[in-house]
Amino acid sequence: MNPSQKTGLKNKQAARPGSPIILMQGEYMNTAQTQATQDIHAFTEQARDAIYQAIFSRRDVRGQFLPTPVPDAVLSRILTAAHYAPSVGFMQPWNFVVVQSAAVKRRLHDAFALAHAEAADMFDGEKRSTYQRLKLEGILESPIGICITCDRERTGPVVIGRTHMKTMDLYSSVCAVQNLWLAARAEGLGVGWVSIFNQSALQDALAIPKRITPIAYLCVGYVSHFYAKPELESAGWLPRLPIEELVYFDQWGRHDEQQALIGHLRRDQAEAQKTANLALMQSR
Ligand SMILES: Cc1cc2nc3c(=O)[nH]c(=O)nc-3n(C[C@H](O)[C@H](O)[C@H](O)COP(=O)(O)O)c2cc1C
Repeated sequence: MNPSQKTGLKNKQAARPGSPIILMQGEYMNTAQTQATQDIHAFTEQARDAIYQAIFSRRDVRGQFLPTPVPDAVLSRILTAAHYAPSVGFMQPWNFVVVQSAAVKRRLHDAFALAHAEAADMFDGEKRSTYQRLKLEGILESPIGICITCDRERTGPVVIGRTHMKTMDLYSSVCAVQNLWLAARAEGLGVGWVSIFNQSALQDALAIPKRITPIAYLCVGYVSHFYAKPELESAGWLPRLPIEELVYFDQWGRHDEQQALIGHLRRDQAEAQKTANLALMQSR
């Protein structure tokens, strides 16, 4: 068959939400079918809104953890969401160390306290006092800790997609972190990423072998409330950057105010904040 003849599906399928068109190998779609397929593949408006709500109202949580236990069924869902993250060459380089022991948490907190004091010395003047006032972890208060790691040798030395940029495995584990973080938000769970550790102290506290890289220590638990803005933004540490200043066209550093996209970006950033504000009001 020549390509011009491949204009229709052999098995005609209705364009209904939730019933995707499945193409057999060698089949092509006509224009109407392409449009119908775009509609079909998009989530319903409600489902789409839910995804964006999770993204815009996700927060790094430090101080609002409740002692309420996290049911295994919920923990299992967010860990499974993490495991479905993309990974370079499908390496799946992650492991998840679930921390429940008070003694282990205490050790982690000691390690944090040491690194936190060292970190304070790295800032000058006003910034140092502000830094010292910030709460930057919830290790003891959160019922669960999860350390997400990266096994850089999991599938041998040559990995599809990591042949030239060797850090891609690390980024894969970070994708797992983000999946978990968003799924947790949808479950009503707060997550706080704690990175203020000497790496060896973190590894020792969790008996993580030297060949494994710890990526994130996450404090996880139900919370009294979520803030609408990052705590560092509210504390005046840094503002959220305007997205339109971060988008370049074709070449690094090239802005183009004439692009219609710029107006969309401005509006969407404002809408994103409204979504976060609304989520905060609803959670009160
Ligand atoms: C790689 C990484 C490390 C982080 N480490 C810490 C940390 O050690 N302590 C902390 O309080 N927040 C930490 N955070 C959270 C950020 O401060 C937070 O994401 C940022 O201020 C934006 O706030 P939001 O997550 O609420 O939007 C970390 C976030 C990332 C992505």
